[in-house]
Amino acid sequence: MDIEGFATAFAIFESEGVEGYVNGGAGQGLTVVRNREAWDAIEVRPRSLAGVGSRDLTTTVLGKPENHPIMVAPVGFQGYVHADSEHGLVEGAVAAGARYCHSTFGASGFAELEQVEGLRWWFQLYCFADAGLNRSLIERAIEAGADAIVMTVDLAALGHRDRDAHTGFTLRGNRPVACVAEVGLADPRLAPVWASLDHDISWATLEQTVATSTVPVLVKGVLRGDDASTAIDLGAGGVIVSNHGGRQLDTAIPTARALVDVVEAMGGRGEVLVDSGIRSGNDVAKALGLGASAVLVGRPVLWGLGVGGHVGVAQVLDLLVQDFDRSMALMGASSVGQLTRDLFVLPK
Ligand SMILES: Cc1cc2nc3c(=O)[nH]c(=O)nc-3n(C[C@H](O)[C@H](O)[C@H](O)COP(=O)(O)O)c2cc1C
Repeated sequence: MDIEGFATAFAIFESEGVEGYVNGGAGQGLTVVRNREAWDAIEVRPRSLAGVGSRDLTTTVLGKPENHPIMVAPVGFQGYVHADSEHGLVEGAVAAGARYCHSTFGASGFAELEQVEGLRWWFQLYCFADAGLNRSLIERAIEAGADAIVMTVDLAALGHRDRDAHTGFTLRGNRPVACVAEVGLADPRLAPVWASLDHDISWATLEQTVATSTVPVLVKGVLRGDDASTAIDLGAGGVIVSNHGGRQLDTAIPTARALVDVVEAMGGRGEVLVDSGIRSGNDVAKALGLGASAVLVGRPVLWGLGVGGHVGVAQVLDLLVQDFDRSMALMGASSVGQLTRDLFVLPK
C-alpha cells in the first residue's frame, strides 16, 4: 500500500467522528487543502548526470545525528485510532529509525518512554497557567531522556473544527493525562487539565521555558519571519514552521510558503523544521531545499497506526524514507546537503 492508500483507508477509523478528528481541519478546511497545494506548486529543476548511485540520507538536527530527516509530529489522544495507541507510534518510529515527538496529550507517561530501547525523542509542551507545572514537566521530560522541548504556540484558543461539530465528536473520558499525572498534579483528568492550559502565553512564557530547559527549545507553530527571529533572540534553538496541519486557524498561510520567509529572517541563526501537508519524498526534498533541516508528519503516521498498529506506522515511515531516497536520486542529490535552493522554483 502507498501513502495515498493509507490516506484513503478511512474504514480504518472506528467512526466518522474519529475520522473527522484525525483528518479534519479548522473552519472549512481550506488550510488543509492549501498546505498540499503549496508543496505541489513548487517545481523542481533536477541536476543531470550527478553521479547519485549511492545516497546518504543522514543529517544532523540540533547537534544530534539523525538517520533521515523525517520525524513523527506530536499527536494527542492516539488511543482513538488503534488499540496500540502511543506504543504503536513509538515502536513504529523506532523501527523506522525516526525521531519521535511526544505530545503533552500523548497516551504514555515519561516513565514508559524512558523504558523504550532505541527511542530518540523530544517532548512537546502545551504550556499551563501554572508555571510550576510547566517547570516540572520540562524537568521530568529531560530526566526521562527528551533531547529537546517543543513548545507549541498556536493554541491560544482551540480551532473550530466544523467536522467535529457535525459529527458531535468530543474528546471523552476521564482518564488522567499521563505525563501530567506523573508529575503529581492533584487532578490530572482531561477536563481539568485542559482547563488549566495557559491561553495567554506570550514571549515571557518562552523566556521561562528557555530558562528552565537544559536542552534546546523549539517553538512550534511559527508562520512569520519576525516571530522566528524574536524566538531566536530569546534563546530558542529553532522553530517549527507549522499551522498545526490546518487544524487551528483556517486560511493560515500554507507552511511551504511561510518557510521561505522564516528561513530568510533567521539567517542561519537556528534550526528550522517544518510540518503540515508533507506526504511524499518530493515534499521532504522541497522542504530541505528551502532551508528546513527536517520535517514532521502527523496524519500519515495516524493512518498507518489505524491500518496496522505499530507495523503500519513503521510501514508509512519506511515508505516516506524510500520515496525521499528516490526523490534525491531523481533530483540529482546524493546527500541532504546537496538539496540546495537552486533545485526548486517557487510559484510566481
Ligand atoms: C489528531 C492530531 C492530534 C494532534 N495533536 C497535537 C498535539 O497534541 N500537540 C501538537 O503540538 N500538535 C498536535 N497536532 C499537530 C501535529 O503535531 C502537526 O503539526 C500536524 O499534524 C502536521 O500536519 P499533517 O498532519 O498534515 O502532517 C495534532 C495533529 C493531529 C492530526
